[in-house]
Amino acid sequence: MLSKIHHVGLVVRSADAALSFYRDALGLPVSVDRVIEDQGVRGVLLPIGDAEIELLEPTRDDTGVARYLETRGEGMHHVCLASDDCAADLKAAAAAGVQLIDEEPRPGLAGMIGFLHPKSNHGVLIEYATPIEESHVGASADALAQRIDHIGVVVEDISVAAATYERHFGFSLDDSRGGPIAALGIENAFMPAGNTDFEFIKPTSDEGPVAKFAAERGEGSFLLSLAVTDAAGAVEALRAGGVRAGDANGGVAFVSPRSSFGVNLQLVQRS
Ligand code: CO
Repeated sequence: MLSKIHHVGLVVRSADAALSFYRDALGLPVSVDRVIEDQGVRGVLLPIGDAEIELLEPTRDDTGVARYLETRGEGMHHVCLASDDCAADLKAAAAAGVQLIDEEPRPGLAGMIGFLHPKSNHGVLIEYATPIEESHVGASADALAQRIDHIGVVVEDISVAAATYERHFGFSLDDSRGGPIAALGIENAFMPAGNTDFEFIKPTSDEGPVAKFAAERGEGSFLLSLAVTDAAGAVEALRAGGVRAGDANGGVAFVSPRSSFGVNLQLVQRS
């Protein structure tokens, strides 16, 4: 069974450079920093709330991660769901018609892992992980961001995407939230997966960043939103560290992708 979002994987050119933002500016601790030779990546895990941010730096040119970086640049790469039995959940996904990248679990940074093809999940590369031990999970009290609030996924049709995710992963929409937001030219819906939500976002206008993303890249992971206790204070602290960030507006602020290594990164104030 799948219980929650375990981590979000980001592809970066240099983990050392990206740590200057994710570790030093956001104040997230590093729990694992390891080169996995046979996969040609250096992986760094930074706990945040009951989830993690995973930085992936290719160490060779002949891997999927390296090709992804070459064609799409730095940014969000995959979303990992915690599984209590990766082998069984991969089998169940195959039975539900999901195209698998890994038929069988293999050892990865987060435990026994397996990947599902993004084509089957509205452009999002999904990983399942059965953590071998959870001892590394735990956030830092002084971190600027407390948890991953939500992951924004641009889709063509919200009910179709929600039905797919419900069928594949067993999560359900929270009908009390979401709807059209005319000012942003979008419509959205929220699907809790543990303490983090999937936010499905559909452009309802031809203008704006969501419409641009949909036109250029189609469906897929669009936004990483982190919960902070004070958005304006967080912006001030980040700017003091040289990070480019917009002003907080209604408890929401955006970090420039130039400072967050290609990620469309939102800070949202939660009490
Ligand atoms: Co991962």
